[in-house]
Amino acid sequence: MFASRQVLNACQRRAFSASARDLSKVTILGAAGGIGQPLSLLMKLNPRVTELALYDIRGGPGVAADISHINTKSTVTGYEPTASGLRDALKGAEVVLIPAGVPRKPGMTRDGMDSVTAEALTNQSTDLFNTNASIVRDLAKAAADASPNANILVISNPVNSTVPIVAEVFKSKGVYNPKRLFGVTTLDVVRASRFVSQIKNSDPADENVTVVGGHSGVTIVPLISQSGHKDITGDKLDTLVNRIQFGGDEVVKAKDGAGSATLSMAMAGARFAESLLKASQGVKNVVEPTFVESPLYKDQGVNFFASKVELSADGVEKIHSVGELTEHEQGLLDACLVDLKKNIEKGVQFVKDNP
Ligand code: NAI
Repeated sequence: MFASRQVLNACQRRAFSASARDLSKVTILGAAGGIGQPLSLLMKLNPRVTELALYDIRGGPGVAADISHINTKSTVTGYEPTASGLRDALKGAEVVLIPAGVPRKPGMTRDGMDSVTAEALTNQSTDLFNTNASIVRDLAKAAADASPNANILVISNPVNSTVPIVAEVFKSKGVYNPKRLFGVTTLDVVRASRFVSQIKNSDPADENVTVVGGHSGVTIVPLISQSGHKDITGDKLDTLVNRIQFGGDEVVKAKDGAGSATLSMAMAGARFAESLLKASQGVKNVVEPTFVESPLYKDQGVNFFASKVELSADGVEKIHSVGELTEHEQGLLDACLVDLKKNIEKGVQFVKDNP
């Protein structure tokens, strides 16, 4: 009787055991940073995550020990840059979130290309680009070797360039799958719905604003006409669009040299990761705007573009077009494509010059 119950339990266990898809290891590279810590916390609270790997050049194990006491089921392990630390953190990951890097200081642009007034700031912006580009390139190399089939979610700025950098590294190692590489632009969408709700006195949860293009200044193109608010026009529209495009600057300025958005970014990154995990676990019709390799403007030399993307277990399932645009939005899109092309080329060139 006892033996048969044991056999039955073993069968049941097999029948109900978690499938590979239900076992979701999420790895965060840069887990001890301003974004990394709250992002790690939010992923620990996500019941879809079974294993959380937290890597940073400093402080990964400390953050992991702290978070591991939270009473949700997932296991948490911290990793440091030891001989196998990064590789072990990445091995078997389904989702790899990359918020490693250096944030902006007041006056600096995300891509180090936009015009800034002082020469010193231009130099700092260039340094920011080179630092983050090198960090992302090296982490991409490690991911291409240790977790070539994972979904790679790039948060490190400038996203318009760091995503092409990851693509080039994966290509050079023969493991590039465009369906599994995402630039996280969710914060622009989160901000857009919040800012619209402030104008309309509505609940931001009901505001769904599509934001397309890229993730820097004028490459951020909010499509307010598609949000059900065609009545926002003229100066009001210009102010709103400008606030969505440069909302990050409000945070950089308010933090006064102590960094850029971290908490709202962590929320946005966790939302995107949750969407991907949901889709990978079989939920249908999961759509998120994200920066991916896209056919939409390839004929204009723009190989990566953020638009609404339907997600599935394979990553990118379907890339939606931008839909119908007003003349004003078409103007914004035209300006976006000019800058975006340069940003993408800059990322590709970086890997060519610094393989
Ligand atoms: P932070 O400086 O607070 O944290 C960065 C972390 O990365 C640090 O803990 C650092 O030790 C770690 N790190 C540096 N090099 C590393 C490496 N090679 N491997 C692993 N970890 C490494 O910076 P914060 O505020 O967390 O920002 C991180 C990045 O996210 C920046 O590039 C920032 O511009 C970007 N960002 C992106 C946003 C988006 O919407 N996609 C929004 C806000 C920031």
